Amino acid sequence: MSLAEKIDKSKLPLHIAVIMDGNGRWALKQGKDRTFGHQNGVEAVRESSEAAAELGVKYLTLYAFSTENWKRPKYEIDALMKLLVQTIDQEIPTLNKNKIRLNAIGDLKSLPPDSSKRLEEAIEETSGNDRMTLTLALSYSSRWEIENAIKQIAHEVQTGKLQPRDIDCNLISRNLTTKDIPDPELLIRTSGEYRISNFLLWQIAYSELYFTNVLWPDFRKEDLYKAIMDYQCRERRFGKISEQLKKA
Ligand code: IPE
Ligand code: IPE
Ligand code: MG
Repeated sequence: MSLAEKIDKSKLPLHIAVIMDGNGRWALKQGKDRTFGHQNGVEAVRESSEAAAELGVKYLTLYAFSTENWKRPKYEIDALMKLLVQTIDQEIPTLNKNKIRLNAIGDLKSLPPDSSKRLEEAIEETSGNDRMTLTLALSYSSRWEIENAIKQIAHEVQTGKLQPRDIDCNLISRNLTTKDIPDPELLIRTSGEYRISNFLLWQIAYSELYFTNVLWPDFRKEDLYKAIMDYQCRERRFGKISEQLKKA
């Protein structure tokens, strides 16, 4: 039985989020420049998107560039932005073939104009696909997102559209960039780092966390299957005790 066959299709996470990490170390290990690692990370994006869509996962969100990543050397940022446009151009036929809709979250206005324009076009060109939504988090950070949500809500209170008593968890969720996406059941981080790095802080309140030492350019379909199988062995209690779950 292959790994994919061992996955219980009735217990799939609806949404998987991934912190794609380790591109730089992967390249340096081979005596290559960090940007070589980013180029080779594209194959892992393709594999994980295809594997998730084939299984029936509805939402896959990939952390591709954080607000903090703007602090990297300019040559690396330029290479990443160029790679983004190239990858979009190259991958649209595969996205359409696999019926994957592209989406993006983050401060997209801060991207170079050609990158954001191409991204918007690709989102439009794939908008009819309904098998899975692939969201790229670009120039994204959770604190940036929460700050904006608070500003929006404060503005609505100030203009009298909302009362402070109307503010609840649902309202906050509806003011985040992920308003149309359910919270991830599973969050994966590659490269052996055990941190969240400002990703989806609100949304992962009850996500199952999975860490692997695999560096992102080496991540393949089997690695996604392993993460899902691990997730399927977890007991998600949401504050209750085991006995209560067994009765339900
Ligand atoms: C992840 O790989 C990709 C981005 C953050 C853009 P890194 O570039 O962080 O690789 P490491 O962590 O330095 O190995
Ligand atoms: C997190 O990776 C951001 C992305 C994967 C896009 P980093 O490599 O930037 O994270 P830190 O800075 O090591 O926490
Ligand atoms: Mg890193």
